[in-house]
Amino acid sequence: MFATIEAAPPDPILGLTEAFKADSRPNKINLGVGVYLDETGKTPLLDTVRQAEQRMAAAATNKSYLPIDGDAAYNRCVRQLLFGSDHSLVKNGQALTAQTPGGTGALRVAADYLHACHPTATLWLSNPTWANHDAIFHAADVPTAVYAYFNPKTNSLDFDALIAALHEIPHHDVILLHACCHNPSGVDPTVAQWEQIADVLAQRQLLPLIDFAYQGFGDGLEEDAAGLRAVADRVPELLVCSSFSKNFSLYNERVGALTIVSGDKDSAANVMSQIKVVIRRNYSNPPAHGAAIVRTILTDDKLRAQWLSELTTMRNRINAMRRLFVDTLAKLAPGRDFSFIVDQRGMFSFSGLNKDQVKLLRDEHAIYIVGSGRINVAGMTPGSMDQLCKAIASVL
Ligand code: LMR
Repeated sequence: MFATIEAAPPDPILGLTEAFKADSRPNKINLGVGVYLDETGKTPLLDTVRQAEQRMAAAATNKSYLPIDGDAAYNRCVRQLLFGSDHSLVKNGQALTAQTPGGTGALRVAADYLHACHPTATLWLSNPTWANHDAIFHAADVPTAVYAYFNPKTNSLDFDALIAALHEIPHHDVILLHACCHNPSGVDPTVAQWEQIADVLAQRQLLPLIDFAYQGFGDGLEEDAAGLRAVADRVPELLVCSSFSKNFSLYNERVGALTIVSGDKDSAANVMSQIKVVIRRNYSNPPAHGAAIVRTILTDDKLRAQWLSELTTMRNRINAMRRLFVDTLAKLAPGRDFSFIVDQRGMFSFSGLNKDQVKLLRDEHAIYIVGSGRINVAGMTPGSMDQLCKAIASVL
C-alpha cells in the first residue's frame, strides 16, 4: 500500500526550518518561521516560565487526565485576557473556553465544529492570510473563500475594498479576522476601523472567527485586544482562537484555547457541548503542562507583573528591529522606500520581495524567508542586520 504513495511538498513555513537546519553555510539567517529571538539570536525561556515550572514541580501530585475542555482555571484566565475581567460576557456565562493544543489546535477544533454544526457556511479568509489557514479548514471540509485586505501598491490596509467585500458575504457565513499583528502582512485596522468592521459584521449577520496569536506583540496586552472587544460589543456570537506560543515563548508546549461567545448562557453551553464532542473525537483532552504554566503566571500578581515586563521587552525589541531594518535599508538601498515597515505591527512584515528575490536570498545568501516575501522581524538581530540588508539590496 505504501509503495505508490508520493512525497508531499514541504510545509511553506515549517519546511523552511527543516531546510535551514540542513544548510551548512555559516552565517545563515532564518527569518521564515514566526519564532521570537532575543538579541543574541536565541529563543528565550522566560524567567517567569522557569519560576512557574519550579513551583509546579514542587507541588505536583499526579498526571491524571484533564477534562475534555481542559483546566477551568486556565480557561478563566484566557477569557480575562481576551475581554478584561469585568466584562459582562465573562461574568454571565456567555463566553466559554476550551483549552486546546496551540492556536492551530483551536483552529482545527473550530473548523470541525463548523463542519459538524454549520455545514452550509463558507469560511472567508483575508487576502493574504497565514499559509496554514486554508489548509486547516480544507482538511475539515469547510469551504473557503477570500476577501480583500492588503493593498500591495500602498503596502497598507485596503479598507474600502475590505468593507465592500464584507457587504457581499452571504448572511451566516464565517469570517476569519486577525485580532492584531496580521500574519503575514503586519497591517492591522485602527480601532475606529475595527468599529466600522464590527458594524458591518453585525449588519450582515456574519460569524467572526478571530485568530489571536500575538496578544501583546503589537502595542500592548490591552491595546491589542481593542479590535476583538469592539467586535464583541457589537456582534452577539463569535469564536476566538488564542495562542500563547509567542507571548509566553511557549512554542513547543502547544498552549492555546478556543473561546465561544453566544447570545445567552444556555446556547453558549450547547455550543461548548458540541465542541467537546469534536475534541473527544480528535485528541480526547488537552496536554496539561503548558497551560498550567500560563495559569500559574496569570493567577499570581507578582509573576503576572514580571511576565508583562518580559512581554514588553520582547515587543520593544521587535519594534527596535523594525526601525533598524528600515534605517539600514535606507542607507544600503537608497532607491527603495521601506519606511512602511515601521508602521506594521507584530512579528511579520510583508517586504514586497518577489519569489525570485526570495529564492536568490536563500540560494546565494543563506537567508530564509517565506515565499510570499514575509519576513520575521522578530528573528533579526543587530549583529546580523548589515549582512541581511546588504543581501536584500543586492537582489532588489
Ligand atoms: C508562523 O506563521 O510562522 C507561525 O505561526 C508558526 C507556524 O506554525 O506557522
